[in-house]
Amino acid sequence: MNEKGVFITFEGCEGVGKSTHAKRLAAMLADRGAVFTREPGGTPVAEKIREILISDTLTVSPEIEAELFAVQRREHADNLILPALRSGKTVVCDRYIDSSIAYQGFARGIGIDRVLELNEYIVKNCMPDVTLFFDMAPSESFRRRKGSVVEHDRFEGEKLEFHMACYAGFKEAARRFPQRIVSIIPDNDKEVTFQRVVSALKERGIL
Ligand code: TYD
Repeated sequence: MNEKGVFITFEGCEGVGKSTHAKRLAAMLADRGAVFTREPGGTPVAEKIREILISDTLTVSPEIEAELFAVQRREHADNLILPALRSGKTVVCDRYIDSSIAYQGFARGIGIDRVLELNEYIVKNCMPDVTLFFDMAPSESFRRRKGSVVEHDRFEGEKLEFHMACYAGFKEAARRFPQRIVSIIPDNDKEVTFQRVVSALKERGIL
């Protein structure tokens, strides 16, 4: 890829704390013009598609769901991520293509290869330089979160088995793309977890 900036994505199951750390990293890198963004969403059009995707009153087939994720990703890449990278900025994105591999490819069952096919434009033009996979099983994060208020969307309403299948999907993605995906084991202590994020990026010469 010809872009000058660095593209970092955060991935993992619900409630593992990746969003907090992604925002903190972007804030830490503010002096090098870091941009924080998220999926689904990131641009006004992609945020509209997000509303459809997470609505708990609308239903779509797994194939259409995967296509909607792919189309919002292309919009996001063309209008936010690629322009930022071209101008030398670091982009930190909360969820990206590996969430499609885990959720649509694995948990919904359309297959990893089909997800990569639907995301062909992204695979060719806008892949992350490094992906930090917060490696914690949902059975554990659900236990830690017990009692705290969680927002309800179509994915959060799924049963534990669905989330365990997503977790298996992330593990499979990590096996398939070992150069790009780094596993971060979240600690109970947020500071320890963030130091793991920083060390992983330092080891790769990104920080
Ligand atoms: P989000 O609100 O970011 O979830 P969280 O706060 O848990 O990180 O994302 C909404 C849901 O969309 C989330 O449950 C994961 C799902 N998702 C997919 O199924 N496929 C995808 O490609 C992406 C980016 C997200």
